[in-house]
Amino acid sequence: MCGIVGYVGTSESWPIIFVGLQRLAYRGYDSAGIAVIGADGSLEIRKSAGKVQELEPAPGESAPSGTTGIGHTRWATHGVPTGPNAHPHSDCTGNIALVHNGIVENYLDLKLRLAASGHQFTSDTDTEVIVHLLEDALARGLSFEASMLEAGGQLRGSNAMGALRRDEPHKLLALRLGYAGGLVAASRQGDAMFASDLPALVPFSSEVCPLDDGEMAVVTPGKVKVVGQFGSTVVKKTLALPPESAWVDKAGHDHFMLKEMLEQPQAVSSALRGRVDFERDLITLDDFLLSDAEIRGLSRVMLVGCGTSLNAGMVGARLIEDLAGIPATAESSSELRYRSPVIDDRTLVVAIGQSGETADTLAAMDTVRQREARIITICNVEGSLATRTAESTLYMRSGIEVGVASTKTFVASITLLTLLAAYLRQVRNESASADLVSQLARAPELMGRVLAQRASFGDIAQRYAQYGHFLYLGRGMDYPIAVEGALKLKEISYMHAEAYPAGEMKHGPIALIDEHMPTVAIATAGPLYDKMVGNIMEVKARGGPVIAVVTEGDTALASLVDDIIYLPQCDGVLSPLLSVLPLQLLAYHIAVQRGCDVDQPRNLAKTVTVE
Ligand code: AGP
Repeated sequence: MCGIVGYVGTSESWPIIFVGLQRLAYRGYDSAGIAVIGADGSLEIRKSAGKVQELEPAPGESAPSGTTGIGHTRWATHGVPTGPNAHPHSDCTGNIALVHNGIVENYLDLKLRLAASGHQFTSDTDTEVIVHLLEDALARGLSFEASMLEAGGQLRGSNAMGALRRDEPHKLLALRLGYAGGLVAASRQGDAMFASDLPALVPFSSEVCPLDDGEMAVVTPGKVKVVGQFGSTVVKKTLALPPESAWVDKAGHDHFMLKEMLEQPQAVSSALRGRVDFERDLITLDDFLLSDAEIRGLSRVMLVGCGTSLNAGMVGARLIEDLAGIPATAESSSELRYRSPVIDDRTLVVAIGQSGETADTLAAMDTVRQREARIITICNVEGSLATRTAESTLYMRSGIEVGVASTKTFVASITLLTLLAAYLRQVRNESASADLVSQLARAPELMGRVLAQRASFGDIAQRYAQYGHFLYLGRGMDYPIAVEGALKLKEISYMHAEAYPAGEMKHGPIALIDEHMPTVAIATAGPLYDKMVGNIMEVKARGGPVIAVVTEGDTALASLVDDIIYLPQCDGVLSPLLSVLPLQLLAYHIAVQRGCDVDQPRNLAKTVTVE
């Protein structure tokens, strides 16, 4: 996690880096810092616990002046979020400053060795070893570039870093080792930048150069030169950036999360665009990786992801089994990467991720590639490492998602998984998807109707905002939605919420039920509805308050539960796209009433680039 930025050129570096860090705050925001080399060759480092804004100079003070600088916004791994643990870190001589994203897995060994040879450490971070390794290499007469590569070569783990030194005040180095959540660089006439991710470079350039594993950018005014592990020049392709307007704007809403929830009907339309032939009732995944013969030969589909993307994968596995009749499972990337999954070239792996930079998912993709599985990714960020690792990509096309809690990319993932399931069915059964195509066409309008009820969630939230624990229950397709609803509540309101398949409740969780433990029960119309009503009755019989999410026309539950939320009637395949919406709105309103930082919840980061 963490975001790093560097600038070198002719303008004051502080404001450019400051804005860059604000744009990377989705990667971590527990502390921040900036180092600037002044015109007199001095190196000034300002850092602080808290968000990037904490770096604003106090009234009457000014920011350090200079045209070369690096900055960092942190998500703590080693060492609590304090000023001394914030980056940039400096060496014993105060000549070098370094910012870092990742985890140095062997930092303890390195730290012991460096301390024994006299290096003074001033933080609890793993990062600090890197700057002392650099210091050592420079002291032995190596060039800055060779020192950086040598220091990087001693690190285990996945790491990205940027550094500057007083002795070469117009040069920055940025090195990527492993996944480490991305590193991009860009230049224009007279200046150049590097950063962890695209948003920081959007105001600067319309084209960037993404670095791959083992590559280092030598960033000087007007120039980015990329070198490989042994210092040889690498010729890179550039990537075009979407226009500035496509990036960060709350559109008048209080929070990005609210704006993004309201964009969900549009996210579904965008994901469908060009992929459905409404006239011929066909799914048209024209550039799909596998030939029809390979699709017919598939033995299984494995969906991998983390957090919300894993929850989307659970929906996808059910859809693929139901619609296409292919065995399908959803697997947590962080578990899969260390397992020995039994898969082969007849296995299709679908790696799901908003960012395309989640370290565990990238590692899981490696694991399955070694076993010759075919890999596609469902991803929102163009040019991300997942899209470059997979054999092909189904882009979500949701636009940037800023809120740490994923919403619109969840429904976009589910839309693409529905299309994928229907496409696999279409090819294997040689049948058009008339019913499904017409259902999908209705989804945005039906979702809009659910979102239009959003004002009523303030009242429901008020009744539940003071509870400490929640249970979420669902069966069938409603179960992964229960898991997603519980995750939303946990991450933005800091309330304990557990999701269970409703049939599992009697095997343990029912012991938790009393008047202090509300249950959110998703009981949409379908074959498991009666079973779900039975489970709701079991909760009520033990005094538990129940919020039920049901389908319009449900007359049975209204008088039996404490609060009821209606969804429009729809085909079962659309149900997850609708049933997740009230759970997002409920979590959002509870978090707002509890005064939580909805868009940047504590301890989290939008993109999890560490293990
Ligand atoms: C979602 O609300 C969470 N912030 C988190 O679980 C997220 O889904 C997870 O970290 C995976 O991210 P990705 O989709 O970018 O891979």
